[in-house]
Amino acid sequence: MEVKGQRWWRKPAPVQSSQYLPSLWLELQRAFQQSTLQCLFRFRKIAGGYTVSKWVVVPADKDGPYVPTEPNVVQGMLKLAGVTSADMVYDLGCGDGRVVIMAAKDFGAHGVGMDINPALIQQARANARACNIEDLVSFEEGDLFDANLHNATVVTLYLLPHVNLRLRPKLWSDLRPGARVVSHTFSMGDWDPEKEDAVDGATIYLWTIPEKY
Ligand SMILES: C[S@@+](CC[C@H](N)C(=O)[O-])C[C@H]1O[C@@H](n2cnc3c(N)ncnc32)[C@H](O)[C@@H]1O
Repeated sequence: MEVKGQRWWRKPAPVQSSQYLPSLWLELQRAFQQSTLQCLFRFRKIAGGYTVSKWVVVPADKDGPYVPTEPNVVQGMLKLAGVTSADMVYDLGCGDGRVVIMAAKDFGAHGVGMDINPALIQQARANARACNIEDLVSFEEGDLFDANLHNATVVTLYLLPHVNLRLRPKLWSDLRPGARVVSHTFSMGDWDPEKEDAVDGATIYLWTIPEKY
């Protein structure tokens, strides 16, 4: 998808926020309090778990790394969920906003994207601006487990299998009956999907929240 000769998904801008510094500081304090061997292991874990850019430190991937979904697969997910202009689509872990942006641009839906990474939220907002759909979509920086999903009619996910499982009770309690959930690649344990499809080698799954859980 091109906007004025430009791709609307661009490389994330450098991270601006220093909000995660306190958590790194705590980790370093804990590491120093341990034996040399434990300390070394802890430092290795810290180094692997954070991204450091100049003075800024963020968890690299709190509940999963940033891996964008290919546009054809995004389209397949939105079609599988039967998205229309009546829908409110939430992408939990929205990355550069591509799912919510395509839902608005190609299907006329409203949407909300949420991501823990502030640089990706900035990028998503810039992408929405470039597509002139800021009235249809919004992007929030935050933990997806704190999202208020009561208005969502469709939830899209590309998270890790254990994160899907942790999220399942929240989907069941927050979403209204009839809301659809679509996941790229990963299923939901023993909650069998109602449909599944393959797009360009990627498997996508659909569930509908039933009347009662
Ligand atoms: C595999 S990417 C998917 C991006 C986008 N949904 C897509 O399909 O192109 C997963 C995203 O989840 C975000 N993420 C990981 N843990 C999170 C959390 N606890 N709360 C919010 N976002 C999270 C990551 O920053 C990353 O952008």
